[in-house]
Amino acid sequence: MANDIIDYIMRRKQELNAVIMAHYYQNPEIQDIADFVGDSLQLAQQASATSAQVIVSCGVNFMAESAKILNPDKMVLLPAQAGCPMADMVTPEALREMKRQHPQAVVVAYVNTSAAVKAESDICCTSSNALAVVNSIPREKEIIFIPDRNLGRYVAAQTGREMIFWPGYCPVHDIVSAGHVKEQMSLHPQAKVVVHPECPPEVIALADAVRSTAGILQYVQASAEKEFIIGTEEGFLHSLRKACPDKTFYLARSHFVCQDMKMISLSALALSLEKLQEQIEVTENVRIKAFRSLQNMLEIK
Ligand code: 13P
Ligand code: SF4
Repeated sequence: MANDIIDYIMRRKQELNAVIMAHYYQNPEIQDIADFVGDSLQLAQQASATSAQVIVSCGVNFMAESAKILNPDKMVLLPAQAGCPMADMVTPEALREMKRQHPQAVVVAYVNTSAAVKAESDICCTSSNALAVVNSIPREKEIIFIPDRNLGRYVAAQTGREMIFWPGYCPVHDIVSAGHVKEQMSLHPQAKVVVHPECPPEVIALADAVRSTAGILQYVQASAEKEFIIGTEEGFLHSLRKACPDKTFYLARSHFVCQDMKMISLSALALSLEKLQEQIEVTENVRIKAFRSLQNMLEIK
């Protein structure tokens, strides 16, 4: 049965000249069938470079929107109505109000935002390049950082910049506590602790390294250590174990799951390719402004 679905997906993908791009938090079978698996930055980079006619974005809404913003002439499909609760914590109206209070500030928007919010921002960032993005802004400039307060605080501490934060957070990462991490550390005293910057400051303070998903993968690949406590969504363990079969990974807390990321199954993907749904659309005036924010980010090396 699964083999029939996989055959259909492969055939239909050829017919449509489609590319399947998956985030590291996707279900293992989606990561395995994807043409490309990566973090948010890599997915945006791949979307801007692809020659495929159809982009199937296996992730959440803001990732599919980014692909559409970068490829207005291509069809972008999101196989489930998957959103990001953190992205929903900032609206264009609320951001405009904050901009009115700080008219000189540069707005740095984490890619985990809607197209309409990106359109109100000056430059995007991901957890991979947030330090480089903030360092690219002249020191005398005030910065509004939206929407993740945890990533914002981490970037402020690392760059020494004063920033105005937004009270947003990832409900999946924000509930990891120092207690969870200490418990894993006592069970696995040899293990290195590597966490995503969406975790709260008390967790970041305990970590040996703080990285985006792709950064965590690079860290464990380069490390001579054999055991790691991982502070991010559990789907990522599939890619870590495939890349490093000789290493052992423990989650920083049990049930570390983003439900939205888990909405795409093989049958949802097959149905999406069959019916060409859900097609992502971004109105052109929003797209042009959001494109500028994403492009400003993609130009940062
Ligand atoms: P990455 O940029 O590390 O892929 O993270 C995206 C995300 O949604 C984390 O929750
Ligand atoms: Fe959004 Fe958090 Fe899920 Fe990432 S893990 S998509 S930030 S809710």
